[in-house]
Amino acid sequence: MRPIKIAVIGGGSSYTPELIDGLIRHHDQLPVDELALMDVDPERLEILAGLSRRMFAKAGVPTRVTTTGDRRQAIAGAAFVCTLVRVGGMDARIRDERIPLKYGIIGQETTGPGGFAKALRTIPVLLDIARDVVELAPDAWIINYTNPSGLITEAVTRFSEARIIGLCAGPFIWTRSVLHAMGVPPERANVDYVGLNHLSWIIRVIVDGEDRTDDAIEAAIAAGWRIDGDLMRSLRAIPCPYLSYYYHRERMLEQMRTAPQTRGEQVKTIEAELMRMYADPTLAEKPELLKQRGGGGYSDVALAAMLAIWHNRGERQYVNVPNRGAIRDLPDDAVVEVACMVDRLGPHPIVVGELPPAMRGLVCAVKAYEQLTVEAAVTGSYRLALQALLAHPLVPSYEVAVPLLNELLAAHREYLPQFDGGADTRDGANVFSLTSS
Ligand code: G6P
Repeated sequence: MRPIKIAVIGGGSSYTPELIDGLIRHHDQLPVDELALMDVDPERLEILAGLSRRMFAKAGVPTRVTTTGDRRQAIAGAAFVCTLVRVGGMDARIRDERIPLKYGIIGQETTGPGGFAKALRTIPVLLDIARDVVELAPDAWIINYTNPSGLITEAVTRFSEARIIGLCAGPFIWTRSVLHAMGVPPERANVDYVGLNHLSWIIRVIVDGEDRTDDAIEAAIAAGWRIDGDLMRSLRAIPCPYLSYYYHRERMLEQMRTAPQTRGEQVKTIEAELMRMYADPTLAEKPELLKQRGGGGYSDVALAAMLAIWHNRGERQYVNVPNRGAIRDLPDDAVVEVACMVDRLGPHPIVVGELPPAMRGLVCAVKAYEQLTVEAAVTGSYRLALQALLAHPLVPSYEVAVPLLNELLAAHREYLPQFDGGADTRDGANVFSLTSS
């Protein structure tokens, strides 16, 4: 059998030990020869490489860990390329969260203008990675975990030939939590799940062939789901927790405004502590504190995807994938988050049909925003960026969108070279001066 190499772009991520944990647990089924960790931060890279080597050694797994600052070297010959990058680091996330709040809008890593700014910074970098993959590892699959995962997957599938599977631990965690609350083992259930990344609903729960959706809703309510119970009963669906930013917008905004720290600020503190722990030469397993970092489930979804592809399993998983007719209301190339059969050719979406009318408007509006954002990120067009923000249901008006966009572009200028100096950008500046005078 040919040797298996996995590349991790952003190998200095606090999530890397999650991946190592999964690779150890599944080494018999995916015997990885080389794990090539690449990062732009040499200090974090060495810390994570050290911990990874200790974890493999303790488990008696012979995987070799190599490190490099050269992305192309890491990617060359890989079977899987895991992307764990955060362009601009945690400070950029904090700006994404803080700036919208000044305009009375939800400030969040993936939802709303925060996710928009993160997409503008990240899409060009993921497209560069995809170009390297096509050239240096054309058979490889990009296993993307970088947020906003749906937008990244859409950009790569539309603007590159690289093979990508867009992951999020959310669907795995949320569907499992509902079944757990019902006391039903996952293998007895079929959960119909539909939408976009961080904009999704559980619309049907079948247990042993019987429709138990109403029981599922009651179990979710009893377990303290983040969405109002009566709202779920009226929808006859379980919205993912990120939908609270739409259904409970004022309440969530108030919470964010009055919280002493944004989630990014909290995570920055946790990550500093995690890095200190990871550097301890006696640590040889993932520390408990990693649970507080969030992102649990990464090893489960990443390994499940890689194993299903590697062994041509045809397994049902919830991933981000081009629609190709699964949701009748959306174009074929729109990336959706739905149940797929995953085999060696990647994810194949299972047909959902029409969206329930109560969800259709929001999904179509957010998809339009996402497609405009991808195009703005690729072209550096101010006009398209403004159109994207105007299309977002959480952005109330043109008067808010223009100064908000200008502030986001200025705050992240260092990471947005595509917006620098083009004619379109000057048009944008004119728009700003018209409204701000
Ligand atoms: C969930 C979301 C991910 C997110 C993670 C951690 O799994 O689906 O998109 O990255 O939580 O979120 P946090 O806010 O803790 O960084």
